[in-house]
Amino acid sequence: MKDDQLLINKIKKLRKEKNAVILAHYYQEPEIQDIADFVGDSLDLSRKSSTTDADIIVFAGVNFMAETAKILSPQKKVLIPDLNAGCSLAESCPTDEFRKFRDKYPDHIVVSYINTTAEIKALTDITCTSTNAVKIIESIPENQKIIFAPDRNLGNYLNSITGRDMVIWNGACHVHEEFSLEKILKIKNTYPDAKLIAHPECQKPIQIAADFIGSTSALLRYTERDGGMEYIVATESGILHQMKKRNPEKLFIPAPPIDSTCGCSDCKFMKLHNLQKIYDSLKEEKFEVNITPEIREKALIPIQKMLELSS
Ligand code: 13P
Ligand code: SF4
Repeated sequence: MKDDQLLINKIKKLRKEKNAVILAHYYQEPEIQDIADFVGDSLDLSRKSSTTDADIIVFAGVNFMAETAKILSPQKKVLIPDLNAGCSLAESCPTDEFRKFRDKYPDHIVVSYINTTAEIKALTDITCTSTNAVKIIESIPENQKIIFAPDRNLGNYLNSITGRDMVIWNGACHVHEEFSLEKILKIKNTYPDAKLIAHPECQKPIQIAADFIGSTSALLRYTERDGGMEYIVATESGILHQMKKRNPEKLFIPAPPIDSTCGCSDCKFMKLHNLQKIYDSLKEEKFEVNITPEIREKALIPIQKMLELSS
């Protein structure tokens, strides 16, 4: 604890000296969320990265988020504390295969979730996040056919909400696909009043059983506005830190995955970062995120469209 405090003080000092900001996703460890200049979901973080006047952005999130920050702010130095912070969902959509898939539907436009590589964004017409996806899709004329990538659960959820018939890429996230309905129902036996709240990346049976479905920030808002006292949370466990902070009187139970020895629901990529790596990243200015100008130019267009439509 004492060591952590020393590290925190060093990070704060260095961040000031270098005019740097630390942006953290809600799925980060509590101590990282607490030291960050800004904590948010993927939409909040992309907005923040485009408006900050810092020279350096240390991105405590996953690669596609840091890439989005770099695409929006090419003049800034964007750092990611651990280069292996990937995303199983983004990885489930390889560029060459997706290009072939897209070419089979020449009269469709591509809406892709922000959880994609910069190369996929360069093949995309409009990007979205789970927070603004319904709004983005509803802004597209009804007769315009759409390909949605890469998350099949979010895609199917969006089809059911908007009444569209989007063609969906068959990708998924290793955290959200793993929640066990059976184990959730057992928790419900012990806590009959607990509400199940779920991210739309969860599989259909979890969505059907859920009392509320929403993006990370929508789930957080729900826990603040809802009158309930107990919640089973079917998304990455990092969000429980903000839920507990904002609702200290309420009980939050992480939804258990099908197969886990620890009984937790951590994103193995998000959880690669720690305070030491954040300090090293600031000090040595590593690992710098770079995007080729050609990809950046193309990937910027769908991100900007998303930001305009969701402003
Ligand atoms: P949000 O868009 O809700 O931040 O979700 C990002 C993500 O990675 C979900 O797993
Ligand atoms: Fe990607 Fe899933 Fe981790 Fe979100 S939780 S960053 S979708 S692997």
